[in-house]
Amino acid sequence: MNLAIIGSGYVGLVTGTCFAEVGHNVICVDNDAKKVEMLRAGRIPIYEPGLEDLIKKNVAAGRLSFTTSIQDAIDKSLVVFIAVPTPPQPDGSVDLSYIEAVAREIAGVLTDYRVIVDKSTVPVKTGEKVAQTINRYNKKGVTFDVVSNPEFLREGSAVADLMKPDRIVFGTSTEKATEIMTEIYKPFNAPILVTDLNSAELIKHASNSFLALKISYINAVAAICEASGADVEKVAEGMGADHRIGRAFLNAGIGYGGSCFPKDLSAFIRISDDLGYDFKLLKQVEEINRGQRERFLRKIRESLWVLRDKKIGVLGLAFKGNTDDVRSSVAIELVKEMVKEGAKVRAYDPKAMEKAAPMLPGVTLTATAEEVAEGADAVIVATEWTDFKTVDWKKIKQAMNSPLLFDGRNLLDPAKMKALGFDYSSIGR
Ligand code: NAD
Ligand code: UGA
Repeated sequence: MNLAIIGSGYVGLVTGTCFAEVGHNVICVDNDAKKVEMLRAGRIPIYEPGLEDLIKKNVAAGRLSFTTSIQDAIDKSLVVFIAVPTPPQPDGSVDLSYIEAVAREIAGVLTDYRVIVDKSTVPVKTGEKVAQTINRYNKKGVTFDVVSNPEFLREGSAVADLMKPDRIVFGTSTEKATEIMTEIYKPFNAPILVTDLNSAELIKHASNSFLALKISYINAVAAICEASGADVEKVAEGMGADHRIGRAFLNAGIGYGGSCFPKDLSAFIRISDDLGYDFKLLKQVEEINRGQRERFLRKIRESLWVLRDKKIGVLGLAFKGNTDDVRSSVAIELVKEMVKEGAKVRAYDPKAMEKAAPMLPGVTLTATAEEVAEGADAVIVATEWTDFKTVDWKKIKQAMNSPLLFDGRNLLDPAKMKALGFDYSSIGR
């Protein structure tokens, strides 16, 4: 099938590539001409394991191409996916101006029936607004269907998540759109749940909020573990063995970050508020998450007494492992806070240095993980990159001024680190 994807970022680019991989003809659109130029030249603007090879393969096979022209892409495609940003506004509500702008643009170039699919994460009832907008600006009266098809991929494993999804959700009210969407997703062999438009939109916000809730829950439990001498890893293992609970997303740490959980939680709280429900539970989830970073900083302050002029090495800047994405990264927030207090920070990340650099003036970015430790009063693990498990910890210990090691992601083995001579502390164990 011929598909257009409007917005070629983390979601649009990976989704478009995976659609091409299963045999569809895909045109990815972006209004960032530089990005399109890069993609056409075979350079990939994001780091995502497995993506580069897949893009090259599908471009070479003639199934994947890039353009800045929405008109060209829509003329050639029966189905048009929208994957543009839905960033937060200062009051927590969602900025829907990108979606609205794209809806108007689509309306202006429609000449024949099209299925317009929203893949961006949006508040419930946005699909209805998209349909109204297209109707208003679609002067030729062309028929179309609007579908909500939320995306559940995780950065860092986006290709695998898309190729082998747990479920496909789409919301629509017409049989024609249901048939077309089912056909698109058939090659993925995943369970398909068809709902109304509003339910599909809600499934996305409710899912992300629930996952964030699991993280805050285990982080609260971690605080109890610290106070009682229990081990949060064992507690999570014991809880997770119950299939009704599950072990996933029970990793205690310095809190969730990224371009999605923080914004989607505040959006869901705001949406619920607008609909007359005060979602206090989710407000607590946010509160615990903020507190997690603060508790960690407090531990560092307690050990170092004052941060001013202390040399601190930071491992990890991305918001999680396996990505170069630094949007709303807790690691970055942590570094900024320590710099504000006068600490001298040296930091390293396997993939996110380029994106982090402009956000961290005054921070020395090192070429290797080991180099953050030179003369350091403390070293912090801030991102759960598995690469950090295998760095030369002996060398790090030798390079440090004092052997304080704070593991904000429970990545390392406490016994091993203690045996190496570190004064090691982590979260909830
Ligand atoms: P992104 O910023 O990486 O990509 C968005 C792209 O859209 C950018 O390349 C931008 O230039 C382009 N764009 C903006 N306006 C445009 C227009 N008018 N025409 C053409 N292109 C335009 O964003 P993302 O991370 O891919 O997120 C997109 C949406 O998907 C958001 O709603 C997000 O919440 C949701 N989502 C993201 C993830 C994720 O892991 N990043 C996962 C699931 C859902
Ligand atoms: C998340 C969801 O997992 C995806 O299903 C969803 O599609 C996506 O948001 C989205 O809507 O954009 P993502 O943000 O890419 O995906 O990454 P996650 O693996 O969910 O991690 C989010 C944050 O939670 C990271 O900062 C990570 O360090 C933290 N986390 C995750 C924990 O602290 N503990 C855990 O157990 C799991």
